[in-house]
Amino acid sequence: TPTLTAAAQARSKSRNRSKSQNRSANSRLSAADFAFGETLGEGSYSTVMRATYLRTGQEYAIKILDKNHLMRKEKMHVALAEKNALVKLGAGHPGIVHLHWTFQDDWSLFFVLDLATNGEMQTRISRLGSLSLTCSRYYAAQIVDAVDYIHTKDVIHRDLKPENLLLDNAYRIKITDFGTAKIIEPSERANTFVGTAQYVSPELLEKNETSKSSDLWAIGCIIYQMIAGRFAFQGLSEYLTWQKIKSLDYSFPDGFDPDAKDLVERLFARDPLQRLGAGLPGGPNGPEALRSHPFFASISWSTLWTDPVPPLE
Ligand code: ADE
Repeated sequence: TPTLTAAAQARSKSRNRSKSQNRSANSRLSAADFAFGETLGEGSYSTVMRATYLRTGQEYAIKILDKNHLMRKEKMHVALAEKNALVKLGAGHPGIVHLHWTFQDDWSLFFVLDLATNGEMQTRISRLGSLSLTCSRYYAAQIVDAVDYIHTKDVIHRDLKPENLLLDNAYRIKITDFGTAKIIEPSERANTFVGTAQYVSPELLEKNETSKSSDLWAIGCIIYQMIAGRFAFQGLSEYLTWQKIKSLDYSFPDGFDPDAKDLVERLFARDPLQRLGAGLPGGPNGPEALRSHPFFASISWSTLWTDPVPPLE
């Protein structure tokens, strides 16, 4: 058997290396690998389009971000925050839109995401006025479960609202839009961000402070809205809405389910640390305490994502 000199071995190694580099370069995705379909949504810096991956026929939602626009408006960090959060969250939970691949060309960044074929929860609430108690409970549980997962990965979403809750083909929740997400660094306090008026917590308005608890506040707002069919806090302007939030100026419509009312009241605790679920895992006010609330008594948490979905009504 021929023996290779050290130099020949090095050359062969380097050839193999460049071969595998070529292979990965060749397999890098581009827009040409997809057939683009309808526009699913439009944001200020991005458009989400339905797309089919030609190699497999699998459908995705591709978020296309305009690099020029991001640069001019100094919003590149928003795109990076979204990618970093999605990468950190991985494919570990069915209730979160998963990022499959990213690529770019001269003009755009492309995020290849799970397709949620049934659109935004917001659209459903608007069409139906409100959701049945069974439906509200089911979706509340999925939101609680998915947000708990997000928090265990040290990510805060910071803009939870029905527009960012998508429905997949089976009408299960998928949380999307991590452009405002924050990855918590142990040393720092997450701050300097104001989300959508109706879902903003008092501590964010007063102390410019966000934590996992701010997501719990938003969950309270969403549960209220699903059941009541209107915002918990709504003034004639953003300023007046913020006034109502800061003074906890809200009330429940007649007939609002008493367990749901108790849950929402506990999520609307003014002190973020007192909010139900805000404590450390395993502690007296941890995520388990939120799951154990009487409103969720009929929820089977271990089969939440495989159980049949209640009819949307
Ligand atoms: N709109 C925004 N993101 C979407 C997604 N991942 N699937 C469907 N519609 C969307």
